[in-house]
Amino acid sequence: MERRSNFGARIERFKDVTSTQDVAKELAEAGAAEGTVVVAERQDKGRGRLGRKWLSPSGGLWFSIILRPNIPANDASRLTLMAAVAIAGALRDQAGIEAHIKWPNDVLVNGKKVCGILTEGGVRGHVLEYVAIGIGIDVNNNVDDLPSELLVPATTLKDEAGQELDLSELLNCCLRSLETEYKDLHEFNLILSRWRMLSAVIDQRVSVSEQMKSVEGKAIDIDETGALLVADDNGTIHKILTGDLKIL
Ligand code: BTN
Repeated sequence: MERRSNFGARIERFKDVTSTQDVAKELAEAGAAEGTVVVAERQDKGRGRLGRKWLSPSGGLWFSIILRPNIPANDASRLTLMAAVAIAGALRDQAGIEAHIKWPNDVLVNGKKVCGILTEGGVRGHVLEYVAIGIGIDVNNNVDDLPSELLVPATTLKDEAGQELDLSELLNCCLRSLETEYKDLHEFNLILSRWRMLSAVIDQRVSVSEQMKSVEGKAIDIDETGALLVADDNGTIHKILTGDLKIL
């Protein structure tokens, strides 16, 4: 029997929120079902990785989805990789846009960032009780408003595709793609191999800064924990769990 789709069975829509992550986490704490989505036209306090601000004017697609993966908290990065594969796939399918993934969580088009992903979770013991995966896609918003201090330049889908995109259709397409990838979470090697095929970084020369440390070399792979493996010029392989990556 075919499993009924539940991603987006409940969608909470807002004009303005602080952050869809705040609302999603509140709903998750109150017991909202897996697949519940929170989407907003604008966010006043949109946030990105490492405590950064995420500008969220109208015209972009800003949403969070609640998942209850029942996996160890240590494996949370798998969900970010899974989401990146899903969003890059959705952009390719819906808009014919050649999207790639920059480790760990950016989706790029023509070498420029169009989407960021933020995974935040509620942990019970060592298990993830829920995660809120926040996805921000610059779609029809004004490219001139995008921050310029990013490690990669930013762009919008409208600018890359040469036309505006329908935000509801794009949301549906992202949800279908997320649901498809999520079904493979327990066969993570399948997701990893799709990630490798979509990667903008494997085989590239990169520099990655992780807290006080910085590594430069060739990105050779990611492992099953989502860590990036970088070979420096002495041939030493560094396993990098988190950080900011620049493609050189
Ligand atoms: C990043 O690249 O640093 C991640 C950005 C994630 C932005 C999205 S927009 C929807 C959701 N709500 C937020 O406040 N952040 C995420």
